[in-house]
Amino acid sequence: MPEAVEQILIYLHLLSALYWVGGNLLFISFGMSMRHVYKSASLVPGFRALGRTFRVGTWISVFLLVLTGTLLLIYRWGGVDTDMVIKLVLFGILLPLKALHDFYIASRAAKENPPAFYFKLTMLVARLNLLIALLIIYFSMRFVR
Ligand code: HEM
Repeated sequence: MPEAVEQILIYLHLLSALYWVGGNLLFISFGMSMRHVYKSASLVPGFRALGRTFRVGTWISVFLLVLTGTLLLIYRWGGVDTDMVIKLVLFGILLPLKALHDFYIASRAAKENPPAFYFKLTMLVARLNLLIALLIIYFSMRFVR
């Protein structure tokens, strides 16, 4: 694979991971400041609008991660080792959980007033997803070095 193509693929892979995971961290910070610091109901519509836009962005990231990651794996690395297998298994767990969060439970939580079962479940799954994503980054780092 030409070096320039390789660099573009790595750049896109890293950028997608940064957007997804960094965005999740910001999202959690926003949620915490809403609930614990400002306690203002007027922030809720902004939070939901951000959630809808971020959902689109993260699925584009997922698409780019799979595409660039698969190409890099085949043409640059020529195979997988234990760290990559662990990363891919974690990704295989994260993907359906993310779909469940984004397309089922989060939209139900948004309709709950006051927040109840789906709200708690959404928070739990969101945190679990972030934890899995952070583990994926750890195993990505180990695979490369
Ligand atoms: C099908 C899914 C994926 C595949 C096949 C894949 C594959 C790869 C490969 C081959 C590399 C090495 C890149 C290089 O040549 O230097 C890499 C690096 C990396 N991947 Fe993935 N990846 C996938 C999903 C993800 C996801 C979901 C994340 C984060 C949430 C992620 C985060 C990273 C990071 C941060 C690196 C850079 C590690 C470093 O340079 O230390 N990847 N990935």
